[in-house]
Amino acid sequence: MSTRTVVRGGLVVTASDEIHADVLIEDGRIAALAATGTPAAEAFTADRVLDARGKYVLPGGVDVHTHMELPFGGTSASDTFETGTRAAAWGGTTTIVDFAVQTKGQSLREGLDAWHAKAEGNCAIDYGFHMIVSDVREETLKEMDLLVEEGVTSFKQFMAYPGVFYSDDGQILRAMQRAAGNGALVMMHAENGIAIDVLVEQALARGETAPRYHGEVRKALLEAEATHRAIRLAQVAGAPLYVVHVSAAEAVAELTRARDEGLPVFGETCPQYLFLSTDNLAEPDFEGAKYVCSTPLRPREHQAALWRGLRGNDLQVVSTDHCPFCFAGQKELGRGDFSKIPNGLPGVENRMDLLHQAVLDGHIGRRRWVEIACATPARMFGLYPKKGTLAPGSDADLVIYDPAAEQVVSAETHHMNVDYSAYEGRRLTGRVETVLSRGELVVNRREFTGRKGHGVYLPRSTCQYLS
Ligand code: URP
Ligand code: ZN
Ligand code: ZN
Ligand code: ZN
Repeated sequence: MSTRTVVRGGLVVTASDEIHADVLIEDGRIAALAATGTPAAEAFTADRVLDARGKYVLPGGVDVHTHMELPFGGTSASDTFETGTRAAAWGGTTTIVDFAVQTKGQSLREGLDAWHAKAEGNCAIDYGFHMIVSDVREETLKEMDLLVEEGVTSFKQFMAYPGVFYSDDGQILRAMQRAAGNGALVMMHAENGIAIDVLVEQALARGETAPRYHGEVRKALLEAEATHRAIRLAQVAGAPLYVVHVSAAEAVAELTRARDEGLPVFGETCPQYLFLSTDNLAEPDFEGAKYVCSTPLRPREHQAALWRGLRGNDLQVVSTDHCPFCFAGQKELGRGDFSKIPNGLPGVENRMDLLHQAVLDGHIGRRRWVEIACATPARMFGLYPKKGTLAPGSDADLVIYDPAAEQVVSAETHHMNVDYSAYEGRRLTGRVETVLSRGELVVNRREFTGRKGHGVYLPRSTCQYLS
């Protein structure tokens, strides 16, 4: 059965254009756009009309960094694919790319199969996978080629977390060389984990056990040093590089320098680094644990460099690194030892709104908002123009966004399966009103109308941002 929907009268905002236009949706895809009020738009007929007058019409958000159900730090991230993708939809995100994990001794295939099993039939929105490579062996390298062919075209490596996900420089170089050959994009967690572990041990020996010491031992210089090393290893391998969750001004400077040299080096930051700081990590009564993630929150002064990076395209993407752990029972594992606090923050529901606030605050422009949150992540990870834009033929993943609605962020009202909000009490202007995923109403005027199992797996092409 073919349903035709028209979204009438909104300001359609993409990475490249803003135009008052009506959008015709047919069979789950964008069929046509036409300037509102013109004969072409008047000729759109449909079974369902959605009124977007006074609202923005945006491509659905593309969040390329989530960790649903991730086993980590002796516990598991508290959002399942079901709860996490539902919350994403509430926040105007219609695609996630989550990280499947290869544990040591496992094949990539085993890890990927396990993530497919967690996600399949449970997602409210479409999803793809990156693969975390934590055991670089000859067979692993061969498997990378196979995964690229079937649509897992990006691989995350860790210079942090020795004994867990950590790879040494030789392992990293080998994986990068493989990526240079098969077109994959290497994503790097750039922190010198070996040096950090020494500082952790020394801090704990001095009795420095509170959450704020997490930020002190994971030094900006050790993020910058690892970022530099990752860039040069990628250069030697002849591979492009995408640095995840950049938080330090010194790390942005490394990316800027490499890009000025013409290297295919890209950077992602996250809302927590743009809106939160070490002040949060220092909150008393162990409340700081709510803000423990890696890379860590930085002193507020770093934020200007991140915004400048986003404006100047030395940073290309804002994702969430959504990796929620409840305060009760999960973050509390680290009372008396900050190194035992599970690392990660909730945020998949908040990204589009926080970045809209950044538009109002003058940090970025409206089209840049769509570019860093929808279009570029889709291009970077081989999903464009199916995802990330509103053009004829694109999936009808579309958000009707009310730029004037006021909201107060709170765990009381959010939909993520976690008992606190990192942005509790924050007043924001702008809110998602209606969300379509492949033409189906997932959120309709602030009511959830989606269903688990609507979301499908997305095989991806290789990076489209290079060409
Ligand atoms: O603290 C974080 N970022 N947790 C998720 C795992 C990672 O390193 O991205
Ligand atoms: Zn207008
Ligand atoms: Zn990471
Ligand atoms: Zn992450």
